[in-house]
Amino acid sequence: MRIEGVGVESLVKRFGTPLYVYSRSILLDRYRTLGAAFVRRNTLICYAMKANSNRALCRILAQEGAGADIVSGGELLRALKAGFKASKIVFSGVGKTAEEMTLALRHGILTFNLESGEELSALERTAMRLKRPAPISIRLNPGIRVRTHPHIAAGRSEDKFGVDKAQALALYRYAARSRWLKVKGIQFHIGSQIAQARPYELAAREVVRLMGGLAGLGIGLELADFGGGMGVDYGNGAGLNVKALARIFDRILRPWPRVRLLIEPGRYLAADAGMLLTRVLYRKKNSRRRFLIVDAAMNDLARPALYDAYHPIEPVRRNGGRLETVDVVGPVCESGDFLARRRRLAPCRPGDILAVLKTGAYGFAMSSQYNSRPRAAEVLVAGKRARLIRARETFKDLIRLER
Ligand code: LLP
Repeated sequence: MRIEGVGVESLVKRFGTPLYVYSRSILLDRYRTLGAAFVRRNTLICYAMKANSNRALCRILAQEGAGADIVSGGELLRALKAGFKASKIVFSGVGKTAEEMTLALRHGILTFNLESGEELSALERTAMRLKRPAPISIRLNPGIRVRTHPHIAAGRSEDKFGVDKAQALALYRYAARSRWLKVKGIQFHIGSQIAQARPYELAAREVVRLMGGLAGLGIGLELADFGGGMGVDYGNGAGLNVKALARIFDRILRPWPRVRLLIEPGRYLAADAGMLLTRVLYRKKNSRRRFLIVDAAMNDLARPALYDAYHPIEPVRRNGGRLETVDVVGPVCESGDFLARRRRLAPCRPGDILAVLKTGAYGFAMSSQYNSRPRAAEVLVAGKRARLIRARETFKDLIRLER
């Protein structure tokens, strides 16, 4: 198995396991494919950094002209270090603190996506204190259900995200009169790993209706941010057709030629670009269940445990023999610690390497040190070159901050 021009086994020899490996060309390809789909409209792609905030990956996207969607002060500092322009950064999230707002205002970000009246007041106070008006967009909760795991649906009326239409209208009226708030735009984000365009279409229509109402009040918007959530094909279903999505957005926004479209994809850009390499430690059988115990665990890749997520798994070198049905599990002491259940795999032996595919998004980013397991190393491949972009953590790292 190869990733670009580099043999996967040579990476394992050089860097050990568990190991995250990313392909520069796949990341670039996803960014350019998305850009090409959205050419008809002046669109800013703001990479949702939460999917994978490694600076080396972010820098690739920043150099291509991408913006960033951030959700914390930490992500803001990472974004700036990676070379994203502050004028292309949008700040999302329901609980921005005054410190984070101060930092973002000082750096002059494009807009704050606000999610409540109290958050709006807090930003107004911060802006007043700094004597610097704050650019704002309101996140609309359109009350739309999407077909995805319930933990990552975000546009239903019972979700914590955004505000309903009536509240949004009230917030815009307030902000339009405030000396310290500058109305910039509107946003929605209805969830993650969405495979259908229809819910986006419904949400976008809601937004445009609201824009019409606001225009009637003399409140004009410059930005329409239609969020992220574009689903990818994990090998067990279809991904979202982004060309069709772009056409829909284009059609809906046609009456608003001067409004700039923003999107906030995370997974779509990063998922396919990464794989997690892990070594088989042991095999065992309990009653009729076969287990492959590998050296990566839920602390390295939480998605299967958290969302019952499916990731393709492939042996790096294929042994002969009939496929077997196995659970691929890690060393963590929980039954929830699995990378795959009831998976058909070619027979494996201790020492074999497995590649857990499409783990570039929400893989390393959600990893932890649970069970005092140092986090995996990360490597970036570009053509024939492989470069360590985050060192493997050591025991020292585990206890460094303890007193
Ligand atoms: N914008 C906002 C406001 C978001 O909350 C998110 C993701 C995104 C954009 C990017 O969504 P994406 O394009 O990556 O779907 N850990 C979960 C996914 C959580 C998504 C949270 N918000 C997983 O591994 O499936």
